[in-house]
Formats: sequence, C-alpha cells, structure tokens
Amino acid sequence: MKYFFTNFKMFFAMSEMRQFMQKHKRDLCDLAELRHVQLGMFPSYEQLYFLQQELQETNIELGAQNCSTVSTGAYTGQVAVASLFDLQVAYCLIGHSEARLYLSETNDQLIQKVKMLLSANITPVVCVGETLQEKQDGYTLQVLFDQVESILQILTLYKDATIFIAYEPVYAIGSGVTPTLRELQNIFTFLKKLTSDAGFAKNVMFLYGGSVTGKSVHMLNQIDDIDGYLIGSASRDFQELKKIVLSDYKVLETDQQKRLQMRN
Ligand code: PGA
Repeated sequence: MKYFFTNFKMFFAMSEMRQFMQKHKRDLCDLAELRHVQLGMFPSYEQLYFLQQELQETNIELGAQNCSTVSTGAYTGQVAVASLFDLQVAYCLIGHSEARLYLSETNDQLIQKVKMLLSANITPVVCVGETLQEKQDGYTLQVLFDQVESILQILTLYKDATIFIAYEPVYAIGSGVTPTLRELQNIFTFLKKLTSDAGFAKNVMFLYGGSVTGKSVHMLNQIDDIDGYLIGSASRDFQELKKIVLSDYKVLETDQQKRLQMRN
C-alpha cells in the first residue's frame, strides 16, 4: 500500500474546496480505487464536515491538520479530538513545521496529542524535519532523533497502534528543493533503524513531504523505505496529484490504472 495524503493547508477557501470536489470528485475516487493506493485528504477545519459528507462511500479517507492538546473546556479557537472523532476523521497531522513555527507547537504538546489521538482511534501523522541551518551545521540526525524518540516511547502504552512519521525537511517545504537521493536514503535508513531498535518496526509508517511533485516523485520512488507522501502545494492541482499517484510502479500494474489512462 502506498499513501498519498494531501495537505491543503489554508490554500482553499470553502467555496474553492466545493469547486475542487465538483470538478474532480469522480477522478479522485478512481485514483483511490487503485489497489495499492490509499488517498487521504487533509482540508482545513471548517471544510472537514463538507468533505466528510462528500467522501462517504468512497475509498478516500479524511484527515485533519491539527488538534488541541486538551479534551474540552475554555480554549477559544481550538478543536477537540472528540470533534474529529465525530467527523470520522481517520488521520491527524501534528508537529507540522508551520504549526511549530506559527503556533509554537512543542514536542511536549505533540506527546499529549499523540496520546489523545490514539485513544480516539485516530492515526497521528507526526511531522519531523530539520531546518536548513541545522542541516548545514550537521545536526540533521540529532534533530530527528530528538523529535522521534519521545513519540516512540508513547507506543509502549499503545502496542497495537499505527502512527505515521512524515519526514519533511523545513527547507524543502514549498520551495521546489528536495534533499538528494543519497541524503534521503540515509535519513530513512536512520529513522527505520530507530523505530525497529525500539521494537516498533511494525507500528510506524514513513512518509516524505516537501516539494513532492509529478517531477520530483520519480527520484523519491527509488527509496524503498518510503510508504507514501505528504503533498502540499501540488495537491491543489488535480493533474499534478494524479501524476504523483500514477508514478509508482506498483500502481501502474493495476487494471484500473489502464482504465484511467484510456479515459484521457
Ligand atoms: P509542499 O508542502 O508539498 O508544498 O512542499 C508539504 C507540506 O507542508 O506538508
């Protein structure tokens, strides 16, 4: 199975999300029916209900872009995990670098969020990644270790849980720049070893995010340790999203893909 998660960030207004679905719902559903594809759509909060209705009886899953660290109470502007649960949200992004930067999200808050999400049966997608400065100073693996280690410890309490770790180098997000194949191979080997040494090889799936496009995906597909992609800017353009999904050789093998190609 390969995962394709669209991080729509705050790109679409409500009316634009409606237009996007009106135009592309059928094609999105076709993509999601491919045997090796799991498509997940992560809209901003106010669009969750709309998408939840749209995605009923499709193979597309719903994801949220964040959640509160607390379950209920006087927390103006926050969204509770219980609401995400009611909306049948399957996944929730946490620790995205834009949330770490603009909402001051900390590693301690992430631990709390992972626990709350797992208790509600929502799969956390924990974003990790170093800044360009940290990379240039040679701290990439140290930063990743610090971000991932505490999350792995939580899994000792939730032995059957699955979580996603999305490696998103901060300098690659929205920039058109991606790390080299070699850099990525080293990083994913490191992350895999970290999780298997902790005894959680089966519990953790790995995504890559940061300027995933129809073009960059060919290099990324060469990395066996990547289970899927977190796609930001490119997910606004259905044709680009389709190129990304259909670039994978496992997907290409299926009959439905031939049908999709014939339709164009
Ligand atoms: P990008 O964003 O694809 O626009 O680089 C990815 C992300 O922020 O998740």
